[in-house]
Amino acid sequence: MKAVVAIGTQWGDEGKAKIIDFLTKESDIVVRYQGGANAGHTVVVGDQKYIFHLIPSGILHKDKICVIGNGLVLDPIQLIKEINDLEEKGIEVRNRLIISDSLHLILPYHKALDSAMEELRDNKIGTTNRGIGPCYADKCLRIGIRAGDILDQNLLAEKISLVLKFKNLQLKKVYQKSVFTEKEIFDLLDKFRVELGDLIQNSSYFLSQSIQAEKRVLLEGAQGFALDIDHGTYPYVTSSNPTIGGALLGSGLNASDISEVIGITKAYVTRVGEGPFPTYEDGPSGQLLQQKGGEFGATTGRPRRCGWFDLQLLKQAKRINGLTRLALTKIDVLSGLDKIKVAIGYEINGKKVEAPSNHNFYQVKPVYEELPGWSEDLTLCKSYQDLPSQAKDYIKFIQEQAEVKISIVSVGPGREQTFLLE
Ligand code: IMP
Repeated sequence: MKAVVAIGTQWGDEGKAKIIDFLTKESDIVVRYQGGANAGHTVVVGDQKYIFHLIPSGILHKDKICVIGNGLVLDPIQLIKEINDLEEKGIEVRNRLIISDSLHLILPYHKALDSAMEELRDNKIGTTNRGIGPCYADKCLRIGIRAGDILDQNLLAEKISLVLKFKNLQLKKVYQKSVFTEKEIFDLLDKFRVELGDLIQNSSYFLSQSIQAEKRVLLEGAQGFALDIDHGTYPYVTSSNPTIGGALLGSGLNASDISEVIGITKAYVTRVGEGPFPTYEDGPSGQLLQQKGGEFGATTGRPRRCGWFDLQLLKQAKRINGLTRLALTKIDVLSGLDKIKVAIGYEINGKKVEAPSNHNFYQVKPVYEELPGWSEDLTLCKSYQDLPSQAKDYIKFIQEQAEVKISIVSVGPGREQTFLLE
């Protein structure tokens, strides 16, 4: 058995959690491999809505193991809250959750620095203020505190003392913000040790062993391809690698462990936070997509900008990630549009651009093709055959142009509103 990776092909919010939930049926283990509580993965089961920020979306399936991989940055307070909320709803988590000993912990000074930096910068990123960037920065500076560190209290005290030297100086002198005491950080981490210390282990070893034992592993990406710190629209990106390289690094699996890379792509595009967005639609169609699609951030509640499907972006996502197939989500939201535009390429000053660079991405203008819309409600469709012919044509158009097969279609938030294509 090999691992399957599911990656968002846009700027996040592609409806990944719902597809992960669907794919979990065919998996034994679900792994988050990057990002942190900046993600908000929503799964709807019956009339219950669950939003996961840190726990893999597979947790709703009773018999599955969930792993928070080494590539994540984990906020201990948020994780405890998320586990308690799920357990209150009768979902047992602690006996099925593994926390990597190597992941980095997000502490209150990371969140304080995230907002302080954002306040000061001119080109605001629109971060989620969850401390993501500052925590990954500490990882690279080699002053971060990792989950395994909390298991040795002497080592932990030493590490806290070292990191606070830098953080407090920065907070006080650069940003004129309050500082943190060693005791408050130690106490917070000790609470985490008491509550969840038993779940910490070498998750990469566990995953390799699981693959050898023929277990089916599903790797759950957060955010999306275009928010990748290397391949996205820098600096308007997140601080991790949602792309395939991040899946390997953040889980500890190797390239030959991967059998499939599924791109999760929404039938239109959205973006929350700042940064370029070539197919952004400011007018009534964009507003219709926002309202009908409920396009408001699951983590911050911010409205998402909405626009037309972007084939150029999908082609880049395919190239970087080696997508083997696609899941197309929220196609039901397009019902009621007379015409649907799809960007088939980009131009700068009237010249075709195959692969825009980061520095000129703001200048690209989409080249559109218009497809006929449909008025039928798709939310009750149970198969490809049930779709109106224009919706079938839309699906065919995307897969032919992108040269990658769409094998899963989602027509609503519910579990039952998903079907496979032959
Ligand atoms: P950060 O990850 O909080 O540092 O935010 C950096 C950028 O990524 C901002 O534009 C955020 O809005 C965006 N972002 C982070 N996480 C998500 C997500 O899960 N979905 C969509 N956008 C996200």
